[in-house]
Amino acid sequence: MPGLPLIIDCDPGVDDAVALLLALAVPERLDVLAITTVAGNVGGDLTARNACLLREMAGRAGIPVFAGQDRPLVRDPVVADHFHGVTGLGDLPVQPPARGPEPEPAVDHLVRVLRARPAGEITLAVTGPMTNLAEALRRAPDIAPRIRQVVAMGGARREGGNITASAEFNIHADPDAADIVARSGVELVLLGLDVTHQVTATPARRARLSGLESPQAVAVRQLLDFSARTEAEIGMGGPPPMHDPCVILWLLAPGLFRLRSCHLAIETRSPLTLGHTAVEFRTSDRHPQNALWGIEADADGAFDLICDLLERYP
Ligand code: RIB
Ligand code: CA
Repeated sequence: MPGLPLIIDCDPGVDDAVALLLALAVPERLDVLAITTVAGNVGGDLTARNACLLREMAGRAGIPVFAGQDRPLVRDPVVADHFHGVTGLGDLPVQPPARGPEPEPAVDHLVRVLRARPAGEITLAVTGPMTNLAEALRRAPDIAPRIRQVVAMGGARREGGNITASAEFNIHADPDAADIVARSGVELVLLGLDVTHQVTATPARRARLSGLESPQAVAVRQLLDFSARTEAEIGMGGPPPMHDPCVILWLLAPGLFRLRSCHLAIETRSPLTLGHTAVEFRTSDRHPQNALWGIEADADGAFDLICDLLERYP
């Protein structure tokens, strides 16, 4: 049985890199049709290059990469290179990829392939600002019902923000894009800090990776160790949350997470709370349900799966 047809839209980014290496380990489960990239953690040229490097690292050089929007829809760009390093890949050695991105822009590709493939076939995993998807929906609203599901990392409710007091980075980086997606009618699963802060790469969990010797597992361990140092130096001080890998883990094992239906609204105007995700579980005619919000995660189960996936690399 072929894997789930999937497009991964990302801003690699250290945790995006881990998510990609996990996703690309199981082609029989996840049929990654394409990787689209967006400016976010680092600039758009670097996220595209990093995605090309990561597909080669995973031995999946045949997966096309499409470079996307290099700035948010409306607001000025924000980056997170203080958490991801100037290359966007922490302290991994970085060299030019053997092959770069395709000439077709990511937004054009999303519109074209969603119109060409059967309706309801393609799932989108979004682990960066939602700029590409929002721009595609803006240009071609007809694609919304053709998307099987959008599974995204973003937002915060109980946990508060990580880029401002009230906003998580992906949504804060392009709140207008997240607003378009939330209003579009797509089936949206949103895994925010409320769950990703439960799935952290503690020293004991990182040590479990030490026994894995594939280049991919070694790279993941190096990426997580980099994040651990960064979190200690400039972050919240605890072990690094596995933000973007949670999207892939949910796709492969949704039973590891608990979701709750909600009405999701995005703050797009207030300078103080820009990008805040207003997650309302008390839905009504005025607040119709438009998203499934992650509330719980089985962290040990998640790391069991991470190890299982990395063991797939020879
Ligand atoms: O807030 C975490 C999110 O912001 C992750 O996607 C990380 O890669 C950064 O983009
Ligand atoms: Ca990301």
